[in-house]
Amino acid sequence: MKNLTDKPTAGLHGELTVPGDKSISHRGIMFGAISRGRTTLHHFLTAEDCLSTLHAFQEMGVSIRRDGETVEIDGVGLNGLHEPTKPLDMGNSGTTTRLIMGLLAGQRFETTLFGDDSLSQRPMRRVSDPLALMGANICVTEGHLPARIHGQKLHGIEYQLKVASAQVKSAMILAAIQAEGPSILVEKQPTRNHTERMLNAFGASIETLDDNVTIKVAPQPELTGIDLTIPSDMSSAAFFLVAATLVPHSRITLKNVGMNETRTGLLSILKRMGGKVTATNERDDGEPTADLTVMSADLKPIEIGAEEIPAVIDELPLVVLLAAKANGVSRITGAGELRVKETDRISAVVHEFSKLGIAIRELPDGFVIDGSKPWHVETTKLSSHGDHRIGMTLAVASLLVDEPLRLADPDAVNISYPTFFEDLRSVSSVKNYS
Ligand code: S3P
Repeated sequence: MKNLTDKPTAGLHGELTVPGDKSISHRGIMFGAISRGRTTLHHFLTAEDCLSTLHAFQEMGVSIRRDGETVEIDGVGLNGLHEPTKPLDMGNSGTTTRLIMGLLAGQRFETTLFGDDSLSQRPMRRVSDPLALMGANICVTEGHLPARIHGQKLHGIEYQLKVASAQVKSAMILAAIQAEGPSILVEKQPTRNHTERMLNAFGASIETLDDNVTIKVAPQPELTGIDLTIPSDMSSAAFFLVAATLVPHSRITLKNVGMNETRTGLLSILKRMGGKVTATNERDDGEPTADLTVMSADLKPIEIGAEEIPAVIDELPLVVLLAAKANGVSRITGAGELRVKETDRISAVVHEFSKLGIAIRELPDGFVIDGSKPWHVETTKLSSHGDHRIGMTLAVASLLVDEPLRLADPDAVNISYPTFFEDLRSVSSVKNYS
């Protein structure tokens, strides 16, 4: 049990550089490993999820050295990975698992993947079924990990994705670059496009058409290592964007945050609700970045539907928190994917927020929240449900109540943001007033 930070008396203040982007850190290791030559990653996210990826590629014979947030990879090329001598441990990481499935489906060896209890309950047929249409041979255990991948020669495909998922799309792209013949993938909705952007930077030829959902992948590219500075993770900055919006008298600046348009749904939502966020120092080093300054604001309720979900998928628990302080009834629908994240995030959010007396109702694919009703803390013992984003969202909620709250399973934050509690403390202390 961890004591969460109390309500700050003078708002949240200061400047923070949150850790590197999780999606980009995973991909930096993977794409560096299958390129020729040296890849150097700066501001790599040294959290458990990305270390699962790093260790998996070391197990496949890739020389990877890490010194703090700098990682050097000596790439072995698309055909240079070695069969690992033991099953690969995916830890808690859905991104590692699903992207590696697409990559190893086309290799010349066999691999077994396993993960922790949470990952072992997450759906894997969404990846293995479409890969099978390209000739892959992947046995999943009743749709879950462990999975056994028997590498095969793959062929190109024209395929309409059944779920709006960047992980599934990325697995298909990693299979498609190894296939014989080109592939065309059509997404249900645009999802984060780091795989496409980054693989092109490594030398691949992946074209996204103007409809933003049709992706043409050319096979067998010559990939070459790059030097990459990873932007700070919008999904980690999000905790501070929401905290400073909700805690009165706050002003925080978040430096060098990734502003890829497939990831900025929270900023559009905050704007519609009346939030005060300004972007300065906008740059583009492969991925757009900006410094974001956020100040406290009074919020209006909001309606969010399926079309907006992919760009805010990981921030939705925080959007529910915003709605719980907005002046009226908000409704979020089309977010059924939340039920298959690290935990069932719809049920976990409703369960934990109800302990704070928040007026929230569960829908099969979302939430109805009445932010006009005052909160009444009924239970001070909260739980992360072993899910990093639930734990951090509850830590932000604790800044908004008078009662001291405690959190079970706080170490879950190490999955994506090991220094989260220190960073939150640093902006919560009046000494940091700027
Ligand atoms: C991710 C894609 C998203 C997101 C996850 C990271 C990625 O998952 O929720 O945190 O890096 O591709 P889905 O593809 O399952 O939506």
